[in-house]
Amino acid sequence: MKTIFSGIQPSGMLTIGNYLGAMKHFVDLQEDHQCYFCVVDEHAITVPQDRLKLRDNIRSLAALYLASGIDSDKATLFIQSEVPAHTQLGWMMQTISYIGELERMTQFKDKSDGKEAVSSALLTYPPLMASDILLYNTDIVPVGDDQKQHLELTRNLAQRFNRKYNDIFTIPEISVPKVGARIMSLQEPTKKMSKSDENQKASIFMLDEPKKIEKKIKSAVTDSEGIVKFDKENKPGVSNLLTIYASCTGESIEELEAKYAGVGYGQFKQDTANAVINLLEPIQERYHALKQSTELDDILDKGAEKAALTANKTIAKAKKAMGLGRVKKK
Ligand code: TYM
Repeated sequence: MKTIFSGIQPSGMLTIGNYLGAMKHFVDLQEDHQCYFCVVDEHAITVPQDRLKLRDNIRSLAALYLASGIDSDKATLFIQSEVPAHTQLGWMMQTISYIGELERMTQFKDKSDGKEAVSSALLTYPPLMASDILLYNTDIVPVGDDQKQHLELTRNLAQRFNRKYNDIFTIPEISVPKVGARIMSLQEPTKKMSKSDENQKASIFMLDEPKKIEKKIKSAVTDSEGIVKFDKENKPGVSNLLTIYASCTGESIEELEAKYAGVGYGQFKQDTANAVINLLEPIQERYHALKQSTELDDILDKGAEKAALTANKTIAKAKKAMGLGRVKKK
C-alpha cells in the first residue's frame, strides 16, 4: 500500500482553491492508501500570526478536514507542532540545504518581496516541508500546482541526504490534479486564488454563505465576448469559472462548453455559483458541529500519537545516519 502525506497551513480560512486543488483529492485517496494529513501550524508562523486567531484557525482547519470527508478510521489527521520530530528533522535538513536554492523558491520571493523584516524561517520553510514528507516514508504528495517547486526541492534534499549519509528516505512523487490544480483569483484571473488576498471578492472561502458565493461569482471578472469557452490565454476569467464548475460537479470542461454554447454569461455564472454552493453547503453543516466537539480533540490526540510512532522511527534512523546523539555502552 502506498503512503500519502499532505499538509495545509492554518494561515486563514481555506479557499475553494485549497479544496479543489488539494483537500477534495485527499478524501478519495484515503480509501486505498495509508494517509497522513497534517495541519502545518509551524509553517504558518513563518509570517506573523495573531496568537488567538492562529489557535482558532488550527481547530477550524482540523474540523474542515473531517467535514470534507477525511475519516479518522482510515487516515491519520494531526497537528504538526504536536509531533516534535517535524522540527527536529527540519533542522537536520537545513544543514544540507543551500541558501542559494532556498532563495530561488518563488514562495519565498513572493512572501518576502518588499518586506523590511523577513524571518529566517520563511527562507528555511522548504527543509521543514521536506521533513514533513520524508518522516512518513511518503510515496505520493497530492498538492496544487503552486507546490511543485517545493516538491522538487524535497526530492533533491532526500536524494542528497541518502547519498551523503545513508539511504533512508523514500523519494516522493508529486500528484497534481488534471483539473483544478490552480484556481485563480475571481478579480484578477491571472493570479492564484489565495487565503491571504486582501480583496475579499477575489476568493471564495469554504465557509462563505450561499448569498456571498453567488455575489462573488456574479462579479467575477470575465470578458465582453459572451462565449463560454476554455482559453486560458485570452479568456482567463471564463476559463477559471469553467474549471471551478467542472471541479465541483465532475463534468468535463468540454461538456460544459457544449452545455453553454449560445448561452450568455449570466446563466453560466448562476449555475457555477449553484455548483459551488451545492458542494460547500453539506461541508459547512458538518463543520459547525465538529469544530466545538470533544470528538475533534480525541481524533487529533490519536492522530498525533499514531503519526509520532512512524516519525520517531525515521528520526532515529536519520540521527544515526548523521552521527547525532550517542550509542549507549552495554
Ligand atoms: P497551502 O496551505 O498554501 O495550501 C494547501 C494546499 O492547497 C493548494 N492550493 C491550491 N490549489 C489550487 N488552486 C489554488 N488557488 C490553490 N491555493 C492553494 C496548495 O497547492 C496545497 O496543496 N507548503 C504548503 C503546506 C505544506 C505541505 C507540506 C504540503 C507544508 N508541508 C507537506 C504538502 C506536503 C502550503 O503552503 O500549502
